[in-house]
Amino acid sequence: MRTVREGSATLKIDDGVFYNPKMSKLRDVSVIFLRAMGLKRAKLLDATAATGIRGIRYCLESGIADTTMLDINPKAYRNARSNARLNKIKAHVIGESLQEFAGSSHDAFDVIDIDPFGSPAPMVHDALKLSKDGTLMMITATDTATLCGAEGPACLRIYGSMPMHNELCHESSVRILLSFVAREAAQFNFGIEPLLSIADMHYVRVFFRLRRGAAQATESVKASGFAACCSRCHAFAFKKGIAQSVLEKCVNCGAEMRAYGPMWLGNLKDQGTVVGMLKESRAYPETSADFVRGLSDELDIQFFYSVSKITSYLKTGSVPMQQVIDALGKRHRVSRTQFDNYSLKTDASLREVIKAVKSARRASRE
Ligand SMILES: C[S@@+](CC[C@H](N)C(=O)[O-])C[C@H]1O[C@@H](n2cnc3c(N)ncnc32)[C@H](O)[C@@H]1O
Ligand SMILES: [Zn+2]
Repeated sequence: MRTVREGSATLKIDDGVFYNPKMSKLRDVSVIFLRAMGLKRAKLLDATAATGIRGIRYCLESGIADTTMLDINPKAYRNARSNARLNKIKAHVIGESLQEFAGSSHDAFDVIDIDPFGSPAPMVHDALKLSKDGTLMMITATDTATLCGAEGPACLRIYGSMPMHNELCHESSVRILLSFVAREAAQFNFGIEPLLSIADMHYVRVFFRLRRGAAQATESVKASGFAACCSRCHAFAFKKGIAQSVLEKCVNCGAEMRAYGPMWLGNLKDQGTVVGMLKESRAYPETSADFVRGLSDELDIQFFYSVSKITSYLKTGSVPMQQVIDALGKRHRVSRTQFDNYSLKTDASLREVIKAVKSARRASRE
């Protein structure tokens, strides 16, 4: 057994129970997110508790009054129960799977956290049974190889989408997860409102609010669509709506375009929520606060331009990112992106980005 302090929580971790200290930044971000939502007396379901760290921190730091924690692993269930007592929080700790619990419970929660090993896909349906209008959901996926198309048809089987396996794959993995969730939620007459979306290290995490109503559900399903990427250069295109052709030939270089999706093509965040998180993040470690600042600065538009792919297509050496950003920033909205360090999001066209890359290249040689 080892003792760990994280945020306001103290944990005694039993052998064989999962705890990854590297994920503390993401837990900080989740705590900050819930603080920014200004919850009062809210009821939380931590569906995959392990040590209980999330349920406990949300109670101690984020205005959760009542926590239910589940874990299918008997060791984890006992460990979460003793940690809940140690931290003196009001918790119902249950040694059941989410699927078993959803089959017998009539509860509806204000907040649901799903943080499984691998794909959350088999859990989303049961989490929706425990939801109501306004429920906030936070869902992690660590099967990023599947979502990023590194495992061939696995993404088609699990999420029903053709994944991108190129420089845009981190963003498209977030969009594929949201699209999957939107289609699942629609079966229960819920629409989804994305509040924050993250792809970092080996995980994807989406934060969204459920809105009850047939119209909201239909609108959410319609926010998905297909994207197409040129098989040669960095051109991409997308179109909302299911089963429509996007583009056969690249407008930039004439090569064949490849189709991917369906994936969510609406917003990935709510800027008001993120600005609220910026304020709350001041009390947290600098790496967590910086991460939130990066998410706040990022433009919420579909996809991005990979400067490294453009320079390799142009067969030029590398260029300083900041110079490309400054050149584009004179006429366009432009930001860095969490999905790739050497890429940028902008409302400029590919042609204009190529021009900016060339001029940054010239300037860096002078
Ligand atoms: C990645 S760990 C959770 C980590 C924890 N949330 C944290 O931040 O440290 C996943 C946990 O979910 C549990 N689990 C897996 N499938 C489950 C299911 N269907 N229902 C409930 N718990 C499940 C596992 O036993 C494991 O303890
Ligand atoms: Zn092309």
